[in-house]
Amino acid sequence: MSNYHIKHLEEYYQVYRKSVRNPEAFWEEIAEEHFVWRKRWDNVLSWDFKKPEIKWFEGAKLNITENCLDRHLPTRGDKTAIIFEPNNPDEEAQHITYRQLHERVCRMANVLLDHGVKKGDRVCIYLPMIPELSVALLACARIGAIHSVVFAGFSSHALGTRINDSDCKVVLTSDGSFRGNKSIDLKGIVDKALEGCPGVANVLVVKRTGSDIHMEPVRDKWLQPLLDEAYADCVAEVMDAEDPLFILYTSGSTGTPKGMVHTTAGYMVYTAYTFKNVFQYKENDVYWCTADIGWITGHSYIVYGPLANGATTLMFEGVPSYPDFGRFWEVVQKHKVNQFYTAPTAIRALAKENLEYVEKYDLSSLRVLGSVGEPINEEAWHWYNNNVGKKNSPLVDTWWQTETGGIMIAPIPYVTPTTPTYATLPFIGIQPALMDENAKEIKGNQVEGRLCIKFPWPSIARTIWGNHDRYRDTYFSAYEDMYFTGDGALRDAVGYYRITGRVDDVIIVSGHNLGTAPIEDAINEHPAVAESAIVGFPHDVKGNALYGYVILKETGESRDRDNLRKEINQQITEHVGPIAKLEKIQFVSGLPKTRSGKIMRRILRKIASNDTSNLGDTSTLLNPEIVQEIMDNSL
Ligand code: PRX
Repeated sequence: MSNYHIKHLEEYYQVYRKSVRNPEAFWEEIAEEHFVWRKRWDNVLSWDFKKPEIKWFEGAKLNITENCLDRHLPTRGDKTAIIFEPNNPDEEAQHITYRQLHERVCRMANVLLDHGVKKGDRVCIYLPMIPELSVALLACARIGAIHSVVFAGFSSHALGTRINDSDCKVVLTSDGSFRGNKSIDLKGIVDKALEGCPGVANVLVVKRTGSDIHMEPVRDKWLQPLLDEAYADCVAEVMDAEDPLFILYTSGSTGTPKGMVHTTAGYMVYTAYTFKNVFQYKENDVYWCTADIGWITGHSYIVYGPLANGATTLMFEGVPSYPDFGRFWEVVQKHKVNQFYTAPTAIRALAKENLEYVEKYDLSSLRVLGSVGEPINEEAWHWYNNNVGKKNSPLVDTWWQTETGGIMIAPIPYVTPTTPTYATLPFIGIQPALMDENAKEIKGNQVEGRLCIKFPWPSIARTIWGNHDRYRDTYFSAYEDMYFTGDGALRDAVGYYRITGRVDDVIIVSGHNLGTAPIEDAINEHPAVAESAIVGFPHDVKGNALYGYVILKETGESRDRDNLRKEINQQITEHVGPIAKLEKIQFVSGLPKTRSGKIMRRILRKIASNDTSNLGDTSTLLNPEIVQEIMDNSL
């Protein structure tokens, strides 16, 4: 029996038991049989959740790009590694073979070396969904540089903060990006960000939109001529198993984003293994994940997981609504996609449109449908299952996080029977626990609690860049010897998990994690604003939308409210990005606060959600009278 590819439910249980009883032996076998190493490990796992310190495959030497590229060349050199589907359907798709991808990665790696990038240096990547983005990740990995991809929808302020937090030396970007019928001036955003980033020596620019941009002498260079001149081979840097592979920022409960650090070997092993099983990938399949590589889903399941398996992975530059709402399905038909992985927010948006957009296309190639990023509601689940999958393709609802690196709870298609809205069973090696308010584990089934993980898995983030204390405090201090996810979950009668949502100050809007603090900081910088609080409320497409309660300064009281609303959203767009704009803004004279001065968000959430029948005990508030005023004027 090969533990690498699970094909029956009985086999799942058998392999799961093995992975939990003796995790070291289990992962050692997977690592040994399915990857190439320059040197074997001395020790499979050492861990201590108190420090916290986690090491997988310590002592091993490898380069992840040799696993994702070089080793495939003898057998899959002419196989398509990446299909690039451009924003505009009239532009031809590109098929990049493993051999071509290898060459492109080597060339870009050599350009980075020529610009002084060394092992351990940080490179910021701010690119749209074009092939150069995948090439850039792999080029960094080739030479041991640590990539930090910033989603190209983030504002200059957010970009600058991230560049400085990890001292990036070089930025890779493009002149602009295409999104539907819009083009975005990415280089302008980079220029603005870099006004506050003295550490950046070079900006390498991909030409995509052909728009007229400013090129700063010495600092800025067009990438293509450099790639053309670069040598087409590049010796892979030999990395330690625990050397950082990348940093990826995620929102937290304070203003500064958390730079989650993922290391090389464990991340590679786990993303490859989960990819193979959760998508049941077979050799000639075409796999498509619609996420942006700016998020963890793209890192793990567009680039590293698929390429480590020698798969064909599709990159889509555009949006689901351009040129019309049939675009996803047109692409599925055109490239005969077998596995399709998207987010509930996209499903909900498409489900609102005419069914003809789906029915027009031949979707018979589809074998597996995936969902990720937020809870999928029952209606969206059925729409996806009935109309896209034709009740014929298992729907895998995959729960995981930037911090977990790979999929943690998910059905294995054709193996695990699915239940709508349930992420179902823990993946191989994952040991979940539900905790009660007294920090005790809740055993048994039909229970609900806070979701923790009891034992390390290979792709758990190892630290927060530059702030190990914050890593410990955020994830390992709430419950002893447990990783705390920040999510609530329930376990049903058969042991299936359903994720109920965040239990902290993170709000998921259209599948994007947004911390309340950075948005409130942005609002409070408006000269007319004294204080603010934001909460999430249910939205039928975005899952959650943002509701802001704003107290004005005296000087702001006389201002036009609609103008103020626009300015506040503009402020948020500049500081965080357009994804964090508020759907509703209510001006209030005060915020409900506890005697210790903490804002009672629970009450604000209920008012924003129009659920005021039971506000709970408000008598302990410092200013209970404010609740009625806020309710009377709620939007
Ligand atoms: O609340 C959970 C939600 O998204 C959070 C992680 O967000 P991020 O780090 O951006 O990673 C998203 C892509 C892996 C989780 O803490 N979440 C993610 N997947 C699901 C989910 N909630 C419910 N069901 C899911 N399948």
